[in-house]
Amino acid sequence: MSLFKIGQERSREEIQEYLHATAWMPGETVHSTSKAGEGNMNVILRVSFFSGKSLILKQSRPYVNKFPSIPAPPERIETENAFYQLVRKHPELSDFMPRVIGFDRPNRILALEDLGEGSDYTFIYKKDSSWPLDLNRDALRFLSILHHLPVPEGYPSNLALRQLNAEHLFDFPYRTDHGFDLDKVQYGLEDLARPYREDLLLREAIKGLKKIYLGQGGRQLLHGDYFPGGWLQAGGGFKVIDPEFSFIGPAEYDLGIMMAHLFMARQDKNQVAGFCSAYDSPSGFSDTLCWQFCGMEIFRRLIGLAQLPVDLSLEEKASLLKQAYEWVTGSGQASGHFGESGVSKPVTS
Ligand SMILES: Nc1ncnc2c1ncn2[C@@H]1O[C@H](COP(=O)(O)OP(=O)(O)O)[C@@H](O)[C@H]1O
Ligand SMILES: [Mg+2]
Repeated sequence: MSLFKIGQERSREEIQEYLHATAWMPGETVHSTSKAGEGNMNVILRVSFFSGKSLILKQSRPYVNKFPSIPAPPERIETENAFYQLVRKHPELSDFMPRVIGFDRPNRILALEDLGEGSDYTFIYKKDSSWPLDLNRDALRFLSILHHLPVPEGYPSNLALRQLNAEHLFDFPYRTDHGFDLDKVQYGLEDLARPYREDLLLREAIKGLKKIYLGQGGRQLLHGDYFPGGWLQAGGGFKVIDPEFSFIGPAEYDLGIMMAHLFMARQDKNQVAGFCSAYDSPSGFSDTLCWQFCGMEIFRRLIGLAQLPVDLSLEEKASLLKQAYEWVTGSGQASGHFGESGVSKPVTS
């Protein structure tokens, strides 16, 4: 049987018939469908009903939706569903996420509560945007609870998606053979990137982080892609979506990624440290590893392929990359302290 593909090309009647068969929204009649935000990986559709209600349908395809020539493991939607199912059992955590309305496994379609058309938090990268104070409180609260959950047995390893992501995180930023011209993002960026690409100490440290990222030794359930594009400003405040990259891994990864985005949103070290002091770290948490992942994410966003709408001059990027280098390699000054644990040696292999 072929898959039922959702998308804007589907007629209202086809979507109505599909939803009728799922019995997810009994008694509702489809009024219209529309694109819900910018999905990179998946097809995301908002379905509105005559009653005024609506829902979000998310379908994974065996490729990256924005770049269909790039294969991607379609079972990522299973991971996303598994994450939501787990979170459901924790009232405070589930308040931060949309409710799952249904999961159609054969068609790889997840039906989610519609959080409304509010924006995501990528506006924080913009110069002069006012800082959303709920972020300081809620983004860390979500991670603190998540990282203290008991590790669920049988949770999907999500290894195939991690492997795809690992190329972007740990390989592409340090290569030139992908044909991506950084000067087209911002003139002068290629020159900024070159010395880092040739730096053996950095390459070794990044290799060590890749091994940890792809390893099986994780102790916490991670969101796996905890950045402003996965945070929504909805009627009820700060919400988290898109846990398809989730895996059992090191808590330092989620926090480190988040910190990198605060830096790219022009927060200085004191502000980031203040912000992160609200994080309740699990035992054994390594500040050093966290700073390493933070630096890694700065590299991959500034000199890798997955660029963001950051609002930074070349000088500001140079200064961030220099800091990131110190954090990843452990060279330069001490990195600052979060949580309770002592500072351990950076990972180099
Ligand atoms: N439950 C939801 N409620 C409201 N909007 C949503 C919801 N889920 C996704 N969206 C919208 O769709 C966009 C892409 O969703 P996301 O899950 O991040 O897709 P992808 O995994 O393909 O990147 C979001 O930025 C948001 O604008
Ligand atoms: Mg996604």
